[in-house]
Amino acid sequence: MTATPPTAAVSRPDRPANIQPADARGMALAVELLRAGEAVALPTETVYGLGADGLRESALAQIFEIKGRPRFDPLILHVTGLTEAEALTLDWPADARRLAAAFWPGPLTLVLPKRDAVPHLATSGLPSAALRCPAHPVMREVIARFGGPIAAPSANRFGRISPTTAAAVAAELGGAVPLVLDAGPCEVGLESTIIGWHEGEPLLLRAGGLPREAIEAITGPLRRPEAVESSPLAPGQLKSHYAPRKPLRVCEMGATTATTAPESHESTERVGLLTFAGLIPGGQARAGSFARVLDLSPSGNLAEAATRFFSALRQLDEDPAIDRIIATALPTHGLGLAINERLARAEHA
Ligand code: TXA
Ligand code: MG
Repeated sequence: MTATPPTAAVSRPDRPANIQPADARGMALAVELLRAGEAVALPTETVYGLGADGLRESALAQIFEIKGRPRFDPLILHVTGLTEAEALTLDWPADARRLAAAFWPGPLTLVLPKRDAVPHLATSGLPSAALRCPAHPVMREVIARFGGPIAAPSANRFGRISPTTAAAVAAELGGAVPLVLDAGPCEVGLESTIIGWHEGEPLLLRAGGLPREAIEAITGPLRRPEAVESSPLAPGQLKSHYAPRKPLRVCEMGATTATTAPESHESTERVGLLTFAGLIPGGQARAGSFARVLDLSPSGNLAEAATRFFSALRQLDEDPAIDRIIATALPTHGLGLAINERLARAEHA
């Protein structure tokens, strides 16, 4: 096999992205680049990740550089299984083992005390590391062939909408990354759920692609770090995130007042509506006042809504015929919680 040598694929933000199919040749090139200390965009079942050698400081530095990500926001290390995760961490609570047994491979990240092998840059200097065992066959194959943990944040510029397709990665990073492996749209569509422990108590650090209820069935009720006195706040959970370029406002489920309807804005403004289960703020009669309506799941299926969420938000953001976005909040159970939390942080004037 003759893969393009890494030297021919140096980072060039001014150039279009190098999107390659995630076939044997594409994966070989990805592994070659990773070995050379480069960052590459890789598909996972949650969102596309910007992957690099998880044990090499210079490779990790590339991730922060390409994303424009502050170094206080730690990275998730991706491994192929429990053994590999244990090699990087210490002191697993019984619940952590149960969760890994139940949900790995899958959209679940566990934060555990790190071993010395994990570089400080991966954890932003924290004594704990975030570990995830992804389910996507391409990601698993690349990690296995690479032979070590791959650090990977979502493959977007810092604070922007997460990418769930290779085209979305290209729109975010262009030629700043030497390779984007294309394996089609991500199935889950939301980043992993993150669980950490504080004084033996499990905490929900980030709602995500694995519903809270599924985890609580094993751990019992989860608290949020904000609710726990003396708990170090989850790093990286900045107020503004997942942000479209256009203004976005969230209106509560079932809100029918005129204040949430597009008429309450400048009448010349063209409003795009991101909704769920056919809900129209202000009532059905107002449907015609939106320039465009995207329904995440007309049948009210939260998993379907999750899969479509980021790409629908991106579509409205990129539509030249829309000035601002209104999104309806979803039901708060299942994956609705994770979608609502992303909407709340995407909201801005
Ligand atoms: O599904 C996902 O998790 C995706 C795909 C690519 O695997 N990755 C992802 O990474 O969402 P990122 O960088 O966008 O989110 C990582 C977050 C950090 O912002 C932080 O909140 C949390 O994980 N995190 C990482 N290490 C941590 C640590 N040691 N302690 C607490 N939180 C940590
Ligand atoms: Mg992210």
